[in-house]
Formats: sequence, structure tokens, C-alpha cells
Amino acid sequence: MQEQKIAVVGLGYVGLPLSLQFARSGATVLGMDIDPGKVDALNAGQSYIRHISAESIAAVIAQKSFEATVDFSRIKEVTAIIICVPTPLNKNREPDISYITETGKALAPFLQKGTLVVLESTTYPGTTDEDLRSVIEQGSNLKAGVDFHLAFSPEREDPGNPSSIVSTIPKVVGGLTPLCLEKAVRLYSIAIKTLVPVSSCRVAEATKLLENTFRSVNIAMVNELKVVYSAMGIDIWEVINAAKTKPVGFMAFYPGPGLGGHCIPIDPFYLTWKAREYGQHTRFIELAGEINTAMPDYVVHRVADALNEQGKAIKGSKILILGLAYKPNVDDERESPSYVLMESLDHRGAEVAYHDPYVPVVRPTREHPQWTGTRSVAWNQQTVGSYDLVLLATNHASVNYQELADWARCIVDTRNAMNGIKTKPGQVWKA
Ligand SMILES: NC(=O)c1ccc[n+]([C@@H]2O[C@H](COP(=O)([O-])OP(=O)(O)OC[C@H]3O[C@@H](n4cnc5c(N)ncnc54)[C@H](O)[C@@H]3O)[C@@H](O)[C@H]2O)c1
Repeated sequence: MQEQKIAVVGLGYVGLPLSLQFARSGATVLGMDIDPGKVDALNAGQSYIRHISAESIAAVIAQKSFEATVDFSRIKEVTAIIICVPTPLNKNREPDISYITETGKALAPFLQKGTLVVLESTTYPGTTDEDLRSVIEQGSNLKAGVDFHLAFSPEREDPGNPSSIVSTIPKVVGGLTPLCLEKAVRLYSIAIKTLVPVSSCRVAEATKLLENTFRSVNIAMVNELKVVYSAMGIDIWEVINAAKTKPVGFMAFYPGPGLGGHCIPIDPFYLTWKAREYGQHTRFIELAGEINTAMPDYVVHRVADALNEQGKAIKGSKILILGLAYKPNVDDERESPSYVLMESLDHRGAEVAYHDPYVPVVRPTREHPQWTGTRSVAWNQQTVGSYDLVLLATNHASVNYQELADWARCIVDTRNAMNGIKTKPGQVWKA
């Protein structure tokens, strides 16, 4: 195996597991981040992501195959750079690629001839060969495809999924030139078993957007059917479980309280924005967005109905949100619909609290500053039983749902987590 020193820029949910995979596979990895807290934690062998163990970090530190730094001048030491920085939407719901361009500007002065730069952040087609390319060329006086290599390879990380192992997820790679592609395929071959080369960076960028749009549209469809079937007295969960016995031509997607996370609610809108430049419209994406963002309102209506049945209003009721993370078994609550639910109920005069075993305290966020510092309430009969209603927003596997049924007065279940649990008549409302 070829010895290679690489830099991974952005040590979050994507960059950190990727760094560890390369470090375990024989490469020497320089992890770079602008957050000194993360860098210090990693160098001390500590983890800040629940599903990544401290031992896995300490092991690569001990064997000297991984080191973290905030010093971008050390780009000089590496032959390949992989960029995994955030790609959010701004307040007008337009792509914010400033993290990518800032990274390009920061690394350009130190870029050596012959280095490979790969972008992994999810983004619209053209980001790599237009935006990133131009900032690096300007800052380095080197030419892409001639003096340095440029490629795009989308990340397919699925946090919290135990079968999502970085090395076994096939990786799509597109290069600016055939040589760029060859260099990128060789780099990833160190750590990843199956590579899927495509003809350009844009095809690779577009592939990721297809994958995420596919999910967003299908989730919207089952969310719509949930509301329609519920009005007909039909349980969507039972319908999906029956439909998924079809051997071909059906793939199960599940409804929920709204979309969350760093990808599905955001990425399709990168395409919507870019499509406008070509006079194109993305109606499926817009419609899916509309349906998915309406889900918290539907859930709040169900909460109102459930309280009404007890002769209560939302105003003045005590409501416990169960699950702040945007999906089960992770500690990531960015873009979580739980925040939207909490805000909506708070706005209507409810007294709102949350319990999440993986989010003990709300970290500062740009979008929901009023919840910063709020703590997860205790999980015991006295506490859970003191709420008028528990709104089950995320179905972490470690929560004991029988205890919930035994302790809670009323449960609004957005995840079908109470299916198969012994409950009292009228106690559970699906939403
Ligand atoms: N989280 C997922 O499940 C997932 C899956 C597939 C793709 N993606 C995509 O991968 C990208 C990264 O997502 P993430 O979830 O890892 O984000 P994250 O917020 O967990 O991590 C990003 C890291 O980049 C650092 N950073 C920000 N600006 C920087 C800069 N200029 N230089 C160096 N470091 C910088 C941050 O401090 C942070 O540690 C996004 O484009 C996202 O859409 C994420």
C-alpha cells in the first residue's frame, strides 16, 4: 500500500469518520478544523460525536496516523486534501457555500504543485469546477487540472446506522480531467472498497442531489398519504408494512413530524437555486418541501385534538417533547423538527420541555437561540407523569416505551413507536 499523507478539512459528522477510516487504512491524516475545541479534544483522544468512540480516536493518535490542527499552513505537508465543511442555506433559503470558498482561500497559499483537492460537501453542480476552482487558482497561482488536481466525491454517511461503515459504502468520484479522476480514485482506494468513477465533477455533484431529492420526495409522499389515510381511519404504518412485502418495485419510506438534519431539508434547494440560472423549475422539490414543512402544523393540530379530548387547551398545558435529535439513535439535533414543534407549542402558550437521552443540553444554534442552555428533563415516573401530554417526535431505541405508556397520561406518536406496546384505551394518538 502506498504511504500517503492527506488533510481532511472539517472534522464533523462526515470528516471525522472519514479521517479515521483513512488513518486505519494506512494513510497519515492531518485533520483540520477552525474549531480549536474539536482539535484539542481529538488530540487528547476524545470524541464529540456519540456514535464515534473515543477509543477509535485514541488508537489512531497512538499509532501516529492521525493528528488534528487549526494551522492551515500545514497544507504544505500533504499530497491530497479532502474538504468536508458545512453547506447550509442562508436565511432566504439560498445556498451558502461560503464555508467551501473560505476553505479554498485558506488552503490556496500553501497548496503544493501536484496536490489533489477533493470536495465532499453536498452542493449544486458547478461548485467544484467554478467556485472552488476559482478561489484556489486565485490564491495559489496554480492552474486546476494542470498544476493541481481537482475532484468531487459526495459523502454518503448515514449517522446512527450501524451498517453504514465508511469503507463499504460505494463512493462516486468525478474529476475535472481524466488525470484528476485517476488521482482521486487512487486516493480513495486506500480506504474505500468500491469506487464509482463518473465523467465529471458535475455528474458526481448531481448524483448526490438526486439521492437526497429522491428521499425528500418519497418522504413527502408518505407524509401526504398519512394525512389522507388518517382522515379515512386507515393507519399509514400498517399500509406501508403491508406494501413493503412486495418483492420488487416498492421501497418503504416512513412519515414523520417533519424533515430534519443537515441534508434532506436543505440539499434539494441547492439544485432549485442553481436550476434557475438555466431557466428551469424544480416542481417536485418545491412540492415536497411544502408538504414536509407543513407536517409540524399537522402534528400540532393532533396535539390540540388530543388535549381537547381531555377538556384542555394547548395554552397552559404542560407538554413534553420526547426526542430532540432529528432521527433515532443520534445526538444531532440540527434542523430538527422538534424545535419547530417546541416553538409552535410555546407560541400557543404551552409549557414545553424535552427529554432526549443523547442531547442533555441544547447547544447554541443560529436558528433557535431561545432554547440554548435548556436541559433534558429526567426520565422517571414522577417527571413524565407530570405532563399533560408527551409528544413523541424521535424514536430512540434506548427509550423504554413501555415505561412511557405506564407513566404518561396522553401520547401523540409521530413515529409509530408505541406499536406493540401495552397502552390504555385512548392514550395514544398517531400523528
Ligand atoms: N451529517 C451527515 O449525515 C451528512 C451526510 C452526507 C453529506 N453531508 C454533507 O457533508 C458536509 C459536512 O457535513 P457535516 O454533517 O460533517 O457538518 P458538521 O457541521 O458536523 O462538520 C463540519 C465541520 O467543519 C468545520 N468547519 C467549518 N468551516 C470550516 C473551515 N473554513 N475550515 C475548516 N473547518 C471548518 C466545523 O467546525 C465542523 O467541525 C455538508 O455539506 C453536508 O451536507 C453530511
